[in-house]
Amino acid sequence: MAQKRIAIVTGASSGIGKRIAIVTGASSGIGKRIAEGIPARYDPDELWVIARSGDKLRALKEELPVPVRALPYDLTKQESLSAIAALLAEEQPDVRILVNAGGYGKFERFEAIAEEDTAGMLDLNCRALTLLMRAVLPYCSAGSIIVNIASVAAFQPVPYGAEYAATKAYVLALSRAVGRELRSKKVRVLAVCPYWTKTDFFGRANKEGVITHFDCMYDPAFIARKTFAAMKKKRDYVVPGFVAKATHALTKLLPHSFVMRVFLAQQKLK
Ligand SMILES: NC(=O)c1ccc[n+]([C@@H]2O[C@H](COP(=O)([O-])OP(=O)(O)OC[C@H]3O[C@@H](n4cnc5c(N)ncnc54)[C@H](OP(=O)(O)O)[C@@H]3O)[C@@H](O)[C@H]2O)c1
Repeated sequence: MAQKRIAIVTGASSGIGKRIAIVTGASSGIGKRIAEGIPARYDPDELWVIARSGDKLRALKEELPVPVRALPYDLTKQESLSAIAALLAEEQPDVRILVNAGGYGKFERFEAIAEEDTAGMLDLNCRALTLLMRAVLPYCSAGSIIVNIASVAAFQPVPYGAEYAATKAYVLALSRAVGRELRSKKVRVLAVCPYWTKTDFFGRANKEGVITHFDCMYDPAFIARKTFAAMKKKRDYVVPGFVAKATHALTKLLPHSFVMRVFLAQQKLK
């Protein structure tokens, strides 16, 4: 244990502990693509990957050229967050990157969503993301970056995705404000706002088939590439892709009552 703490770390501003990157939601979709892209770009001493599916996380150990620590935690559970905080305290790592990509949505009428999911979306998308940001900050230093996956849903109210969109509005606002607070410490917070992206997200979010119209579907690898590009710039949020940017621009220009009407018409919903 002591040996770990006196490891010589090049380029680490804190000078102690292993340089690590942490990715939640690393078992699939956008988080998995980001986890896969980190070793070549940042060469951390260790990559910590978090999701519930331990088998998928362990598969990343075989796949990636850096030591991978698989942490199969359900982030809606307080004991998972406490275990991660305890691990950070034990290892005293130099956290260079935290990517909060764990998240889910439900596209259904608000009152039809099961109570477990109503609480679950808040717990994962907001509570876990916030507490993980807070947990890693003592181990971050100049040049560290926190990347939070929000959504274009953060920019507008979304009927039949009301709570999900509201959680993403929270993620965007939190990321930008905390990033501003951390500017003097040279620790960045980047919010990524993807449009529809082809992942397992929809198996859970759209089980009832409420959403029927997808004008565009991005590849998670594209979202990951745009995330890495934005991590190098001084942006506090990024909207990857032309259709996503156009939608974002319209939600800034048009009254949200009109934006919601258009969305409902596209989805053939009332
Ligand atoms: N796909 C889209 O159209 C889209 C658009 C905008 C934003 N986003 C956002 O992008 C992020 C990644 O989603 P995705 O599209 O890549 O979907 P995904 O493939 O379903 O990935 C979601 C990830 O979250 C993990 N996760 C779910 N519940 C969890 C829990 N209770 N505890 C810990 N981990 C949990 C999943 O792993 P396990 O199941 O193994 O736990 C998985 O790794 C989410 O925040 C989502 O809201 C997605």
